[in-house]
Amino acid sequence: MDQKHKLSARQRVETLLDAGTFVEMDKHVVHRCTDFGMEQKRVEGDGVISGYGKIDGRIVFVYAFDFSVLGGSLSAANAQKIAKVQDLALKNGAPIIGLNDSGGARIQEGVESLTGFAYIFRRNVMASGVIPQISAIMGPCAGGSCYSPALTDFILMVKDQSQMFVTGPDVVKAVTNEAVDKETLGGAQTHGGTSGVCHFVCNDDEETLMTIRELIGFLPSNNMEDAPVHPVTDEVTRVCHELDNVVPADPNVPYDIRNVIEPVCDQQYFFEVQPDYARNVVVGFGRLAGRTVGFVANQPNFLAGALDIDASDKAARFIRFCDCFNIPLVAVEDVPGFLPGVQQEHCGIIRHGAKIVYAFAEATVPKVTLITRKAYGGAYIVMNSKQIGADVNLAYPTAEIAVMGAEGACNILYRKATPEERAERIAEYREKFANPMPAARLGYIDEIISPCDTRIRLIQALEMSRNKNQSNPPKKHGNMPL
Ligand code: HXC
Repeated sequence: MDQKHKLSARQRVETLLDAGTFVEMDKHVVHRCTDFGMEQKRVEGDGVISGYGKIDGRIVFVYAFDFSVLGGSLSAANAQKIAKVQDLALKNGAPIIGLNDSGGARIQEGVESLTGFAYIFRRNVMASGVIPQISAIMGPCAGGSCYSPALTDFILMVKDQSQMFVTGPDVVKAVTNEAVDKETLGGAQTHGGTSGVCHFVCNDDEETLMTIRELIGFLPSNNMEDAPVHPVTDEVTRVCHELDNVVPADPNVPYDIRNVIEPVCDQQYFFEVQPDYARNVVVGFGRLAGRTVGFVANQPNFLAGALDIDASDKAARFIRFCDCFNIPLVAVEDVPGFLPGVQQEHCGIIRHGAKIVYAFAEATVPKVTLITRKAYGGAYIVMNSKQIGADVNLAYPTAEIAVMGAEGACNILYRKATPEERAERIAEYREKFANPMPAARLGYIDEIISPCDTRIRLIQALEMSRNKNQSNPPKKHGNMPL
């Protein structure tokens, strides 16, 4: 390690992969640039280490930039190396992992290095939805070095060590006169919490590489396979008594939806994705009876669980990832609606909110929904309702499925009523709608379950739908609202 506790590119690859499995390719490749005295700056491998190896015994392809060689800059030669492993990964149906630490296009090569990015981007796009693509940002990544990761499925960053920006602080200052440091502009916390570009913020190189290994463990190698099945050591019929009191009696009292998800997962373990971004939605992986499941949940603890623009984007992207890779979806719902407000409307909550309904409706993997409490209005419909195509819809006795909450509804319907009359009407409305029975009577809820039975009920629903064979009408591709 150097003084920044950074591993070298080779150490990173070796730490990432099962011991002794790395097979290096193209280690003698050198750049072909003859301008700017570059003949004197030839290094074997040209600043990229590439090849394949194994994670938990499964093949993955990998490339790693070496910042110590010309700032990890991309040349025509090392781009060709990366494109080669991208092609192999796609052809052989194995995930590809990029360990990025790069100053972007090699300035001395001009359009040659830009061309290199184009080749990589095109392959990223062709591989999207076919093999999992994972990018770790392990140092400064500028310009083109950000866009390949942005085209991949998951981005990991290292706190206080890695940055991503299209243009660095100097250019920002020159163009917009904003003074900003590298970390604030594009550090791990900025992208993990504010921009949503990054999915996992890690403390150091080791943690980043171990997180990639863990993530790979939840995923299939390609879109024709299922995720690996783990031995079931946690009783499938385990009763989760802790869930009986998890939803507060008062509908206005928040709680952490992860306290519903965690107990039902095998070993009570939930691997959260993008935990610091759009916290009103919680997404991530768990296992039920040994099989990977993607959870998409409203979070009453943050913005009361209302869906806003960022939460919609976060959820929709995760849903689509799971659908690409045959990972069943479980929606856990407690949502008062879409977030009202001028800022939300002006920034396009209509367009962004539409992404969730698009993603859930389009997904052909098994889809299960559990309503724990509020399921109001359009948000009820978009959160994997029966009516948009969910396979199994369950509700706790505390579920409230209605156009809106009692007070909001009565304020509209009985605007002119006296406070006493309105209070009466609110109580009447609550009695009528603040329970799952109206929806259950119509068949929109398949079963009202005791919270302690959540684990077994979800496992049964997923087992029932495991061989689901559904496809959407033939088309080139849909036109999702982006
Ligand atoms: C050639 C580069 C380089 C590059 C860095 N180096 N970036 N060489 N091409 N793009 C070299 C430096 O000259 C230096 O060489 C060594 O790498 C280390 O760089 P430092 O600047 O000393 O490191 P640091 O202070 O850590 O700063 C890192 C950095 C900075 C923030 C990444 O180097 C930087 O801003 N680089 C340029 C970023 C950039 O604008 N890239 C082009 C983007 S355009 P010596 O010999 O001194 O050790 C692009 C187009 C994409 O990528 C198009 C597709 C959309």
